[in-house]
Amino acid sequence: MKKFHILTIFPEFFEGFANTGIVSKAVKKGLVYLNTVNLRDYTTDKHRTVDDVVYGGGPGMLLKPEPIFRAYEEISKEKKPYVLITEPWGRRFDQKFAQELSEKDEIMIICGRYEGVDERVKAIVDQEVSIGDFVLSGGEPAALVIMDAVIRLIPGVVGDEDSLRVDSFSDGLVGYPNYTRPPVFNGMEVPQILRSGNHKLIELWRRWKQIENTYKKRPDLLKKADLSEKDKKILHYIKKGKKFEDFISDNKV
Ligand code: ADE
Repeated sequence: MKKFHILTIFPEFFEGFANTGIVSKAVKKGLVYLNTVNLRDYTTDKHRTVDDVVYGGGPGMLLKPEPIFRAYEEISKEKKPYVLITEPWGRRFDQKFAQELSEKDEIMIICGRYEGVDERVKAIVDQEVSIGDFVLSGGEPAALVIMDAVIRLIPGVVGDEDSLRVDSFSDGLVGYPNYTRPPVFNGMEVPQILRSGNHKLIELWRRWKQIENTYKKRPDLLKKADLSEKDKKILHYIKKGKKFEDFISDNKV
């Protein structure tokens, strides 16, 4: 079972997440344990103070180190977790990072505040993590994003179909377009190939679309993508502005 310990001043933020969809099923199946830790429960003063002013001056308040250390020490008595802290300038969270985290048994996420956290907290942190180059008011949405991406990688959490989709992202390309019924909607038709029943052709068309979408939407991904000789040929056609039909007839598929 994978355990997440989330240190936060807003534990209620995670209620909807823990009780919805795939995550809730994973919890019920005993595959995931979500331990939301209210930092106020680890304060010792009457007002349950979790933050304080900045030494040397400056705007805003910082999260105090003591409640965080106390919570960490209690969690570590059982097993030392891998510790993350959400920071806008941390290591960029991506699928590879999610995969690495899916291999850890216990993960603790300290939800930072945008003003910051006392620097001494870094003594217990293994990795600072960011979900993108923008500033959130707190780390809670980032922790939620990270947990969602990691939980769906745990074996048994999602069905085969979804795992395949992750695999297609892992090979570094954008996905192919999908359609459901009806076959014609507002004059827009589902591509004929998908209704042809020709599975080899469908597979090829989907690969073409993946490469085309990546070229159009995320050309940066193509540099790192794992392309076969056939993929490179497809890309060459796309770059020349040729159509899928040209590829089919030129290559006698
Ligand atoms: N805290 C504030 N902004 C953040 C971001 N972009 N990623 C992770 N944590 C944050």
